[in-house]
Amino acid sequence: MKVLASAPGKVILCGEHAVVFSEPAIVMAINKRAFVSAELRSDNAVYISSTDLNLSGCFTEEAFKSEVKESEAAAKLRPIWVAVKKTLELSNKNLGVNVFVHSVIPPSIGLGSSAAVAVATVAAVGRATGIRVSKKEICSVAHEAEKVVHGQPSGIDTSISTYGGVIAFRRDEGFVPLKTHTRISIIIGNTKIERSTGDLVRHVRKLRELYPNVINLLIHAIGHVSVMAAEALRKGNLSQLGNLMNINHGLLVAIGVSNENLDRLVAVAREAGALGAKLTGAGGGGCMIALTTSGKAKLIAKAISEAGGDSMIIRGSAGGVRTWVA
Ligand code: PMV
Repeated sequence: MKVLASAPGKVILCGEHAVVFSEPAIVMAINKRAFVSAELRSDNAVYISSTDLNLSGCFTEEAFKSEVKESEAAAKLRPIWVAVKKTLELSNKNLGVNVFVHSVIPPSIGLGSSAAVAVATVAAVGRATGIRVSKKEICSVAHEAEKVVHGQPSGIDTSISTYGGVIAFRRDEGFVPLKTHTRISIIIGNTKIERSTGDLVRHVRKLRELYPNVINLLIHAIGHVSVMAAEALRKGNLSQLGNLMNINHGLLVAIGVSNENLDRLVAVAREAGALGAKLTGAGGGGCMIALTTSGKAKLIAKAISEAGGDSMIIRGSAGGVRTWVA
């Protein structure tokens, strides 16, 4: 039996980095998804092929074997292998599986690509083994795999990818779904600069050690922004949400995770009429987002493209992980 699963990427509307220090954050699933297929093998090996990474290879208890680029394949496929292995362990059987991964979420730019791949992998492999894996388990196993990529992620990416929609998330406490009564349009601007989330999280940690009184206040202020943003979303008050996103960007600049490219795209989006704009995800490159009512979305996307970014219009939130049998 071949099982397929898909899981969405995400944009963080407010609260990135502060969420690492247990402040709340607001995140929305987007309609760019990772797709994974899984089929059990007759032996206990794990074969993984990723079309996006253009890599494949076979993991056994003893070794990893790949036809080409062996060391690169071993390193880059390892997070997927960890997700597969931890899922197979849930079945308490000595199983092997063939896993094919295809994601339309560009990697390393803050749109939650690795978490979506991990979530879809756990869901597909879990169902292929015949055991019932709950969303809670999918989320927690995918989080373990994410630790291999990012060190100590907050868990926000795996949560939104599992459950979808818009959620208010707080580390160690979980999340609440946010009902939004207004259809929001978000324009994503991609600087096309890849960066490492782990490095940027380490940068903030270091700054906090150097200037604890200042950085703790900034982190706490970002948490307040998220609380007010959740309220604005609930009430459908988009101009207030936009203001809060602008404040959030300023605070992220202050903790040193923005850069010239992000600031330029944020500025042109505001000039083109966005209600608010900020970097999204870890920063240091990657993506920014702009909030608008649908009438102005194309104009803002054009301004972002003219300023050198790749733009993408997202209308409303996407559903979480789902599986089906091929
Ligand atoms: O997945 P990214 O690169 O968009 O970053 C996730 C957000 C951070 O708060 C920077 C890290 C985390 O673990 O929450």
